[in-house]
Amino acid sequence: MLKKIISFTLITFCFSIAYSQKKKSPTAPGIDEKVEALLQKMTLDEKIGQLNQYTGDWEATGPVTNSGNKLEDVKQGKIGSMLNVKGAKHTRALQEAAMQSRLKIPLLFGLDVIHGYRVTFPIPLAEAASWDLEAIEKSARIAGTEAAASGIHWTFAPMVDIARDPRWGRVMEGAGEDTYLGSLIAKARVKGFQGKGLGNLDAVMACAKHFAAYGAAIGGRDYNSVDMGLRTLWEVYLPPFKAAVDAGAATFMNSFNDINGIPATGNSYIQRDILKGKWGFKGFVVSDWGSIGEMIQHGYVKDNYEAAEVAINAGSDMDMESRSYINNLAKLVKEGKVKEEVINDAVRRILVKKFELGLFDDPYRFSNEQREKKTLNTPEFLEAARDVARKSIVLLKNEKQVLPLSKDLKSVALIGPLVKAEKDMQGFWSIDWGKEDHLVSLYEGMQNQAGKARLLYAKGCEISDTSKAGFAEAVSTAQQADVVVMAMGEKYDMSGEAKSRANIHLPGNQEELIKAIQATGKPVVVLLMAGRPLVFNWTADNVPAIVYTWWLGSQAGNAIADVLYGNYNPSGKLPMTFPRSEGQIPIYYNYFNTGRPAKDDNDLNYRSGYIDMQKSPRYAFGYGLSYTTFEYGNLKLSDTNISGNKPVTVSFTLKNTGNVAGEEVAQLYLQDMVARPVRPVKELKDFKKVMLKPGESTTITFTIDKEKLSFYNENLEWITQPGEFKIMIGSSSDAVKLDGSFTLVD
Ligand code: GLC
Repeated sequence: MLKKIISFTLITFCFSIAYSQKKKSPTAPGIDEKVEALLQKMTLDEKIGQLNQYTGDWEATGPVTNSGNKLEDVKQGKIGSMLNVKGAKHTRALQEAAMQSRLKIPLLFGLDVIHGYRVTFPIPLAEAASWDLEAIEKSARIAGTEAAASGIHWTFAPMVDIARDPRWGRVMEGAGEDTYLGSLIAKARVKGFQGKGLGNLDAVMACAKHFAAYGAAIGGRDYNSVDMGLRTLWEVYLPPFKAAVDAGAATFMNSFNDINGIPATGNSYIQRDILKGKWGFKGFVVSDWGSIGEMIQHGYVKDNYEAAEVAINAGSDMDMESRSYINNLAKLVKEGKVKEEVINDAVRRILVKKFELGLFDDPYRFSNEQREKKTLNTPEFLEAARDVARKSIVLLKNEKQVLPLSKDLKSVALIGPLVKAEKDMQGFWSIDWGKEDHLVSLYEGMQNQAGKARLLYAKGCEISDTSKAGFAEAVSTAQQADVVVMAMGEKYDMSGEAKSRANIHLPGNQEELIKAIQATGKPVVVLLMAGRPLVFNWTADNVPAIVYTWWLGSQAGNAIADVLYGNYNPSGKLPMTFPRSEGQIPIYYNYFNTGRPAKDDNDLNYRSGYIDMQKSPRYAFGYGLSYTTFEYGNLKLSDTNISGNKPVTVSFTLKNTGNVAGEEVAQLYLQDMVARPVRPVKELKDFKKVMLKPGESTTITFTIDKEKLSFYNENLEWITQPGEFKIMIGSSSDAVKLDGSFTLVD
């Protein structure tokens, strides 16, 4: 069987090599020739050295396998790239060592700049809640600029994994559950990181990860198997990666999971047939940390020798930290198991990027301490972080007009374990700058804006223990205040890599504290600060004002205070469905209707749902409130029939019917009423975020072309089928304000 897999891989690979050779890569003129000339000079060992990536000794983001002398290896050309080395000084020192190697091939420095480098931006899932593609691109642009000024050539971002399971800790790192939104955000982030293109001093290589379908790990358990039909893979999980390729992503990173029994890192179907073949990707693929060697634990290969053979033949170009390549590839070539041309292809892909970055012209061009010092942490960057943070905040509930807070309040009680939190506001994958860094807590943010109001404070409880020792003080503090603002949620490392949770309720006895404070009868605002959707049903049912702030980064406190005091009218919309219980997971908005759809939560008689809980989520994908209200009207279609490639346009008016200015994300959903295979009850196909003054109205127009009606049939053909389509326009996937229909004629 194994022989079959390898021979299938080889055959596939030869086609794709031929294919990729045929289509010259669109690299800058002359680079291909320079790469070929250099390749001719390289020994096999020097080629293999380019495929080898080690972590620096400063920080590890995976199980560190310290061995040998890395500096010596660099001097001997045995390392092509380092990760977790940051700063102009450190990178210059290692680059100087690389310049002692025979061919002076520069190192590539990679780092997880996921949501900010020196200035920490909101976690990616929070930014996705802004639905503001410009703000998201700007956030990545600033992160890339700061990283490039500090010797970094390459960020291991954006993570573009679609995720429908909030038990998976890495939902914090992506753009949520929707393919359409996730694909647009993937494009925005790639463009943000790469700016005007590689070679510019403020551009870093993007890395679309984790290829592929990592977010569908069974049970939300990190690193777990993925078992799915190819239609779901192509329709839900691959499009954001294709969007990244189309946006010019320089690199890809494969994923730890197996897909239907074949580990991604050894999977030539996804890496060669799809990525490098069908999509024509000319960059290179780096394995995830040790994932090549982990194919042994998967039970896919018996040792590192076989792991190296399978991975390189399947299209994994660079080996992050498993040492399988450096220790085995030369032998594999000598024994005829790996063709040297396979290695040449991987080396070419990597050298092209080093040339494009300008590293052969000047290996130290990114490692300039003066430039680093003047580029980082500027007021402009901090303001941008505050702006996108405000836009990422989602107002879930605001009864009795508790919000916005009045500046005339005499006292505000700040209660909860995250009121003074700074590190926790940075979230997972933030870079720790220690005391150097000024991080704005909620407490400080409130101090900056509370005006004459007296701020009272009590922690009340810890994040995740069950002691009630602080309850009494918290209750008495609340009783002295006009209003109570509670800061509850997760510690910074309760969501992120290897942080799957089976129980996603508010941790510890936080909800007990909320109950005790609510019982005082004071107006209560609960802020929820987390890296994922949480379950908080009692709070949702009983507290008048609830704001989801996620983890908002360096400027968290200021951004939250901007919203609480109404200096910014919240506009965020949930990028993921919020379940009522872990028992509802997986739960997402674009599901199939089934043969027994429940009309509503009470329709349980032989219907698809639960007998012990509503079928509906606590909060739907696309949901979020404002301090104002909006009215939708005058739906008009340019035609009720589509034929050929003529698109249909849908227009409607949106009016701000409240008394404060605000932004609305108007969303367009479509349903293909009858199709084979069946189609979801609705799919997001467009949206527009608009700012309207009180009383102002505008006309919004969406264009529906055939691409938006297409899907994969059971033969994986991208098709459309004639028939009726339902149009739904609204402020959330569960709040349709206007509906209509049209017919696709042919
Ligand atoms: C980690 C993560 C990956 C990250 C890499 C380097 O295990 O899975 O997202 O980029 O290792 O830190």
